[in-house]
Amino acid sequence: MASAAHIRLGVNVDHVATVRNARGGVHPDPVKAAMIAIAAGADGITAHLREDRRHIRDDDMVRLKAQLTKPLNFEMAATAEMLRIALDVRPHAVCLVPERRLERTTEGGLDVAGLFGQLMPAVGELKKAGIRVSLFINAEPRQIEAAVKVGAPVIEIHTGAWCEAVTERRTAIAAAELQRIKEGALLAHELGLEVHAGHGLDYVTAEHMAGIRQIVELNIGHFLIGEAMSIGLAEAVKAMRAAMNRGRATAA
Ligand code: PXP
Repeated sequence: MASAAHIRLGVNVDHVATVRNARGGVHPDPVKAAMIAIAAGADGITAHLREDRRHIRDDDMVRLKAQLTKPLNFEMAATAEMLRIALDVRPHAVCLVPERRLERTTEGGLDVAGLFGQLMPAVGELKKAGIRVSLFINAEPRQIEAAVKVGAPVIEIHTGAWCEAVTERRTAIAAAELQRIKEGALLAHELGLEVHAGHGLDYVTAEHMAGIRQIVELNIGHFLIGEAMSIGLAEAVKAMRAAMNRGRATAA
């Protein structure tokens, strides 16, 4: 399962659509960005279809599925509308995330333990359709255990709080968050879950995450799209790939 050799990079193209939508029209195109990311070494593409369609739109998901040569990870809230769309698009994977209308981004993990009744049928239906399901959660034992109970094969650990503490140089909080992520990844792996991580990662934090052997995939968006504005998306993906490879080489 967990491999010290390779850690996958999923590139999230939501914010290409954010820039497009700022002016309306069709430029820049998240599907074109996805193709560039894959050509530069991404192992898959992630896109989040939000209820308010603030960035990715329904048609983007359809085009991504039709045109990508690597796996599509469809991020969504566990609502009836999104479930219907996902079952229609049939992506390789679905990542279930919490969604609040007024949030700027996905601010916290799913409360799997508290939403058991809502998540159980959604996970079941997606799995029945052959879609790999992951749950975006904080690295808390209660949530990890609930993910196992709800039948999800994969979790994605929310790294946002750790990345924020690193950026703001709040050293004690960063150390505690990192410890929580490491322990969570280990517990999840021991319970048979595949472990991914994401949110707020940059070259430095992604390199660090790649050093955790149990984590087999990182999903990264905002930083890479930001880097694309100065060095270009292909160069940013290559630099991220190199950082992750350096981190992986240190994995125990
Ligand atoms: N993983 C999940 C589940 C997310 O919701 C997001 C943000 O959409 C990301 C990864 C990527 O986060 P960022 O854009 O901060 O790299």
